[in-house]
Amino acid sequence: MNKLMTEHRKKFGDFEVIDFVDETEIQRIRDRVDIAVPLDVNWTWEYGSEVQELRSLYEKGKVNQWNAETDLDWQVPVSKDDWVIKPEGSMLAMALRMMGKDEATQKAAAFDELAFVLSQLLHGEQAALQLCGQLTNVCDKMDQKWYAASQVIDEARHVEALSKFLSRKMGTIYPIGATLKTLLDELLQAEGMQKKTLGMQTLFEGTAVGIMDMMRSESANPLFGEMIKRIEQDEARHAAFGVLTMRRVVKDASEEERAGMEDWAFSILEALNANQQLDMLRILGPKYDIEPEGLVQMALQLPDYAEFNSLAFMHTVVPNLQRLGLITERTEQGWRDTAMMVDQRGGAPRAALI
Ligand SMILES: [Fe+2]
Ligand SMILES: [Fe+2]
Repeated sequence: MNKLMTEHRKKFGDFEVIDFVDETEIQRIRDRVDIAVPLDVNWTWEYGSEVQELRSLYEKGKVNQWNAETDLDWQVPVSKDDWVIKPEGSMLAMALRMMGKDEATQKAAAFDELAFVLSQLLHGEQAALQLCGQLTNVCDKMDQKWYAASQVIDEARHVEALSKFLSRKMGTIYPIGATLKTLLDELLQAEGMQKKTLGMQTLFEGTAVGIMDMMRSESANPLFGEMIKRIEQDEARHAAFGVLTMRRVVKDASEEERAGMEDWAFSILEALNANQQLDMLRILGPKYDIEPEGLVQMALQLPDYAEFNSLAFMHTVVPNLQRLGLITERTEQGWRDTAMMVDQRGGAPRAALI
């Protein structure tokens, strides 16, 4: 299978990580802000509903709108001296705890790490905003165009909420990591609504729902918790669009096309997972005397590593890909070897949108 970013890979035991270390190159990737995108514009003269479940999703989107400025209580204080996210939700806090560092240091590190992770989500939200704008052009059914347009305003609201939270309450917006920027460019440049929907709505938003669900359950601040809860509810609707649309796409695809989508899905999420937070650790690790490579190598050795690492993937995206027929026996071992898939206790997947 095609692996992305091969020139940035190195082996940590059996595990292959992606690690960007050259600052000039990272900056070059970030500075690439004008992207040429192949985009077809489709007119349609059918204004009646052709895809009933998308029309229903659009209706649901309309009634579930919220206002980031007035529906969140911006008076709630957010401080480095308190836990904003519980230590269990922070890699740095857990590492510092094991190193015997005091609680104030653990809290400060968890705060910094959260600001970094939320910044990456914010940049991802900007990509979602732009990609949904593309979908309003490239989709050929009016139901899809209406739905995509409703997602555009959702994503604008997410960009608004996260950027206000970071600038008003945390004081920092960290720049985008090189791994994430490379993958988001790949999605934005993908040709056709099939690949765009698979990449953004199914893969990225499915993974985002898993990450946000963990963040919400580890939240220790009411403003942060409420903001994530609201964004996550919107994201679940977006992931549902991905599944409903991809179900039709896969049904109509030739075996060769289906296999191509299966490979692409794996290569995108394999690369995302292969970074193992090294982009964050390269920036924040030194501030807390944490050596990035050492910490990741140690994490990979933990007995429950796969269980923990797979949580975000097993929540929504992996069960959805399995049901869509985009993870088969041919690729399943790859998902397991990279700790994105495990057998779940209690059998059935926790949450799936179809
Ligand atoms: Fe979003
Ligand atoms: Fe979204």
